Amino acid sequence: MRLKWFTVVGAVAAAAVSVLGVLSTSAADGSSAKPSEQSLRALGTRHGLYVGTAVDMQALADAADPSYRSLVASQFSTITAENVMKWGLLEPTKGTYDWRAADELIDFARKNNQRVRGHVLVWQNQLPKWLTDGVTSGAIGKDELRALLQKHITDVVTHFKGKIWQWDVVNEALSDPWDTPNEIHYKGFWNEHYGPEYIADAFRWARAVDRDALLFYNDYNIEAFGDGGPKDKVQFLYNEVNKLLSQGVPIDGIGSQGHLATQYGNYDALQVADTIQRFADLGLAYAFTEVDVRSQMTPKVKSGDSVEVNPRLQSSAANFSALLQACLANRHCLSFTVWGFTDKHSWIPTWDFGSGKGTEGMATLYDESYQPKRALNTVKADLFYAGPPNVQPRIAHKPRRDLSAR
Ligand code: XIL
Repeated sequence: MRLKWFTVVGAVAAAAVSVLGVLSTSAADGSSAKPSEQSLRALGTRHGLYVGTAVDMQALADAADPSYRSLVASQFSTITAENVMKWGLLEPTKGTYDWRAADELIDFARKNNQRVRGHVLVWQNQLPKWLTDGVTSGAIGKDELRALLQKHITDVVTHFKGKIWQWDVVNEALSDPWDTPNEIHYKGFWNEHYGPEYIADAFRWARAVDRDALLFYNDYNIEAFGDGGPKDKVQFLYNEVNKLLSQGVPIDGIGSQGHLATQYGNYDALQVADTIQRFADLGLAYAFTEVDVRSQMTPKVKSGDSVEVNPRLQSSAANFSALLQACLANRHCLSFTVWGFTDKHSWIPTWDFGSGKGTEGMATLYDESYQPKRALNTVKADLFYAGPPNVQPRIAHKPRRDLSAR
């Protein structure tokens, strides 16, 4: 009897604590709960900022890995398909689409009240083999290639119409200063086989189908302006986008991927904020679309030597923070998306950035056991401690529909 009484009191107390917990975490101004107790998405809401992640559909479906699914749902207000909306995965056989995985992502987003960034309509990677082989062999000539691209954009944008908030229409069209020649230029499959006019065509074809999605140009290594000279990728992008806008091409925003590495110099928040401002002054929205901050996995890092691990964790956090603070500071920066949120499912160890696969890693907000890293708490703190007058709610962007020259 006595035991039972204690049990009841304990249960009531626990219930009271959990009710208080719910109340305090859902406080409208977000100020009464500690940032560590709040989700990224709740912390972003105060600024109207959508916080997102790329989603690996296999991990999402893995019943043996429930933390992945529950964190995607609880922490993020926007999601991006890491792979399943790419051309090669949507249309592996010419004329036969496989929408299943992409539709699952859309469905997951709807159930969890999340917005979807569509990724990607035109890119030189992960194209179907039938397309690249056809072009290489000469079986697909320029006119057919143009018709195929128009069909692809039309079919995909039609299929997802009304379900996509922001489309990455064109991805990674530009060279980098480390390419040859080192002056920035258009490069890649589409530029070679179609010509640079594919960019204007792609935006126009996407707009012709979907009047409401925001249409983005997306790229990496565009965090901040350099010296404004011929090797400055951001300057090249700025000039080209300005030209396209003056021709009436319906570009609504710039997506900065934000793939950073701790061994490089990178940028501070003020340099990044200045860059966002210059694009916003052209009337464009802005988004960070694929943020991760990788590190070199030396033998000492792999063995957990704190002398090498600690500076990497700190530098990673500082770089996430620089991009997020710059985004928060500009009302046109609508979303902040990370390219995977756990080191357990990150593309970084699978990719060769120059020194071989598996030589870089630890690029995300949670470690391989889903434990928060310093970077997670740092971005939470940035979101929590920001507010007026310097950080104001986002400004909703209207899709550009007037296609007359500016
Ligand atoms: C990456 C995926 O994360 C990998 O799983 C895939 O093997 C290759 O592509 N820039 C982009 C993304 O725009 O689509 C890329 O995603 C990462 C670089």
